[in-house]
Amino acid sequence: MPQHDLIVIGGGPGGYVAAIRAAQLGLNVAIIEKEPQLGGTCLRVGCIPSKALLESSEKFHEAKHGLFAHGIKTGDVKLDLATMLARKSNIVVSLSKGIAGLLKKNKITHYPGNGRLAGPGKVNVEGTDGGTTELTAPKIIIATGSKAALLPGIQLDGKYVGTSTEALSYDRVPKHLIVIGGGYIGMELGSVWLRLGAKVTVLEYLDRILPGSDAEAAKEAYDIFVKQGFEFRLKTKVLAARADGDAAVVEVEGGPPLRADRVLVAVGRVPFTENLGLDTVGLTPDKNGKIPVDKHYATAVKGIYAIGDVIDGPMLAHKAEEEGVAVAEHLVTGHAHVNYNVIPAVIFTDPEIASVGQTEEQLTASGTPFKKGKFPFRANGRALSLGQTTGWVKVLAHATTDRVLGVIIIGPRAGDLIAEAAAAMSFGASSEDIARTCHAHPTLPEALKEAAWATFAKAIQM
Ligand code: NAI
Repeated sequence: MPQHDLIVIGGGPGGYVAAIRAAQLGLNVAIIEKEPQLGGTCLRVGCIPSKALLESSEKFHEAKHGLFAHGIKTGDVKLDLATMLARKSNIVVSLSKGIAGLLKKNKITHYPGNGRLAGPGKVNVEGTDGGTTELTAPKIIIATGSKAALLPGIQLDGKYVGTSTEALSYDRVPKHLIVIGGGYIGMELGSVWLRLGAKVTVLEYLDRILPGSDAEAAKEAYDIFVKQGFEFRLKTKVLAARADGDAAVVEVEGGPPLRADRVLVAVGRVPFTENLGLDTVGLTPDKNGKIPVDKHYATAVKGIYAIGDVIDGPMLAHKAEEEGVAVAEHLVTGHAHVNYNVIPAVIFTDPEIASVGQTEEQLTASGTPFKKGKFPFRANGRALSLGQTTGWVKVLAHATTDRVLGVIIIGPRAGDLIAEAAAAMSFGASSEDIARTCHAHPTLPEALKEAAWATFAKAIQM
């Protein structure tokens, strides 16, 4: 029976990062992954392939509609979808191989198969060949991630009605794609197929898109998406969706059924704890399916820990990675900390929408007095030269201490720009600290500097 110091169940961003950090700190680590490729949802069928397609579809769209503004004339721009999809798959394969290499380099034993708890300190690996390997370790980390949430009336068939997994690989551009849910996944993958020529209708239950994100940014994004060609039906509750002949039909409350040739269900994600043997150790998920943990990620059972999408908090790869490092360090050193006030979030639409810290709504709800500084990209020289002047940066700082409490960016490369705000907030920066930091000119981060100026004084360039 192979013995290890630590067994990690799940080879996604939470699990493999925890395994690597624990191995770096001297533990003998095993990692179990049920899918043939390492990397979890994020790498196989989430963040990475969607970003590959977002990039390709943006290039296609720009070649068709944007290059002429730069004085570049093209001939007939044609789509080669098979090559686009193959490029995406190659990126996934190469990153997944990279993780296998990292595991090897850190002398981590990789067990392919389904990891199932078999009592305290024991995990069975159920291999694809039907065989079972019994592993033991005093410490076990559950990092099994999440899966797409469904609605009761939705019948997935893998072709006409599917989740984000299928929407990453449609073999042709749908004439009409219905997206159920105007959240992260709906807007990102909806953008891909819209740019490639599909008519895209988003059905959203709420009266706004991108729930949870800053309302001003979501409203701005909504107006931009409408101009791009998205059709939205807000306050629309989907009751059912199923294949019907060679198309799909979607039933909504209080209206006639809708037809489309593909339906993407993107109504959130739920923790994945099936077939994990939680009952063998007496662990029960809460009403949301999440595994309760304390501040050091310890579950109610001694020696068993959980991180990432299976526990509370935003279902984001980088949040899981932070927890992976923290749980490993705590196991070995007794010290670790994740700053949950500074977890950035990025929606990779065009323009990108990124945020860190609190939104205006959250600050108002908690009664926190705050100041707000805003700066538009249309007044930023670099944005003008890029031809990407939509959007703005907003800095929210405490009314009396000037400490930065939140930054929201909608605009070019917002996902990259938010890192500076996160770093500043990690150090407890004031808006004046950001404003008085010299930023290279002409660059997009100058928009953050200007918004910071606007928070405690006045923007210089506006
Ligand atoms: P989401 O929670 O962002 O959005 C789901 C949307 O579906 C909500 O707007 C909700 O109101 C709507 N909805 C729910 N039931 C409905 C119904 N019956 N009819 C119509 N609309 C309904 O979930 P999403 O987009 O599926 O993403 C799942 C998770 O994956 C999120 O937690 C997100 O953080 C993560 N993710 C992160 C990305 C990133 O970091 N860029 C990209 C994609 C996903």
